[in-house]
Amino acid sequence: MGDRRITDHPILDFDEGEVIHFTFDGKPMEGREGDTIASALHANGVKVLGYHFKTKRPRGFYCAIGNCSACLMIVNGKSNVRTCTEPLLPGMVVEKQLDRGVPDDV
Ligand code: FES
Repeated sequence: MGDRRITDHPILDFDEGEVIHFTFDGKPMEGREGDTIASALHANGVKVLGYHFKTKRPRGFYCAIGNCSACLMIVNGKSNVRTCTEPLLPGMVVEKQLDRGVPDDV
């Protein structure tokens, strides 16, 4: 899967940014400096970020501003991370979340 970013736009210019390596469900992937986790996944063609814990329906981008829970994923072993607003960092281990996750205070 190649990079699926907009590269040519009539009004906007896009900085490329440095390449950031991370993994998604064990697969090596590349993002760009300035990406959120979810934007990097979309650029790699990943649209399903997890599954609803009860209905098992696929979940993905919805609000993209951190106000819902459609993009919750497990990041570096921590569940319930809102990946639409979480900056992508080198070496992140990102996984689909299939359940309610573990609350922060456990
Ligand atoms: S898509 Fe709504 S919080 Fe991320």
